[in-house]
Amino acid sequence: MVLNFFSKKSNKQIFGLDIGTYNTKLMSFAGGEPVVSSFVVAPTPANTFSAGLISDEKALSQFVGQQIAGVDVEDELSVILGISGKGMIAKKIDIPEMDDHMIPEFVEIEAEQELFYNRDEMELDYEILEGLNLNKPEAKSLFVVTVLKTVVESYNKILDQNAIQCEILDTNFGALFNAFEFNHTLDESKNYMLLDIGRTTTNLIVVVKNQVVFARNINLGGDFFNSLIQKKMSVDYSMAEDLKVSASKGGEAPQDVVSLIKSELNKDFMEELISPYELYNGLFPEEPVNEIYITGGGSQTAGLMSEIESVFSCQTHFLNPFKNIKFPSDLKKYKEEHKMISSVLVGLSLRSLE
Ligand SMILES: Nc1ncnc2c1ncn2[C@@H]1O[C@H](COP(=O)(O)OP(=O)(O)OP(=O)(O)O)[C@@H](O)[C@H]1O
Ligand SMILES: [Mg+2]
Repeated sequence: MVLNFFSKKSNKQIFGLDIGTYNTKLMSFAGGEPVVSSFVVAPTPANTFSAGLISDEKALSQFVGQQIAGVDVEDELSVILGISGKGMIAKKIDIPEMDDHMIPEFVEIEAEQELFYNRDEMELDYEILEGLNLNKPEAKSLFVVTVLKTVVESYNKILDQNAIQCEILDTNFGALFNAFEFNHTLDESKNYMLLDIGRTTTNLIVVVKNQVVFARNINLGGDFFNSLIQKKMSVDYSMAEDLKVSASKGGEAPQDVVSLIKSELNKDFMEELISPYELYNGLFPEEPVNEIYITGGGSQTAGLMSEIESVFSCQTHFLNPFKNIKFPSDLKKYKEEHKMISSVLVGLSLRSLE
């Protein structure tokens, strides 16, 4: 599905690109405003990812090329790409008080020690966290993100093979936060947990005082439900997928599938989410989560939202990434249709307005 609306003002058009393991999403804005000009959602070919890493560069590259070929761009095309999955680690590191110019070297040493990678194997970035209730007032806390260079290279190859320039390489963590901040008025006195539940990965971030202080990639998503439905109902993957989606839409799924998901599978799913949540509470005992926003295709699973609400005892809402985004009339239906899978895409695309 490829749709275009506005004609471009410059030759170089910037797109947000979210290559998910289930859906690949591509979007651009027109005239420097959050007004959608192109919007593409296409199913990512099977077996192009394995265990959270790109496993078939050739097939994925061809596929991305096909999606790009479908959008009306005259000259150069540039993307803001989000990285997710394995090979990306975010960590809070506490450091003693020191001058800001000494921090980079300190972070590199800490990251090498904590993550067991050599400095030259990883891309590394960090932010100083402000205004946290730290136990030791003289210490600083940093939010450090590292991505393995091999992972960055495999994404770069896919872009290079299609003569696509990469404007910004972002993480899905940052994109998720951007989409949230742009569409919701944040209350600084509240701490928010955001969950982007995709097919194979759940990105969990916690926002305290308008900043991401904790982020985890969890190997868990819609496929978790499929594999359990496959086993319990003796059906194949695609049947399990159909049953799950139909159950969540109140469709014709048999009642036993609906009750299996609601009474068993959602609980199993939540068990996997508890340990990162507890890890957060251990690191930030003074900053408990007050409110939860969920997004991603998997967040629509029947009864999952109420399960999240009850396990974490927190008000839980769907994140609507399109709330403050304008769609021209001929694309308007996608505002509703694709809002659940577009948070990361919106967060990436918004950076083109910076
Ligand atoms: N109505 C629905 N109910 C339950 N699950 C759904 C529904 N619609 C889509 N899904 C699930 O959502 C997942 C796809 O969502 P999404 O597009 O957010 O994933 P992705 O970004 O491609 O994956 P990842 O981020 O893990 O690489 C699939 O597992 C699909 O089965
Ligand atoms: Mg995703």
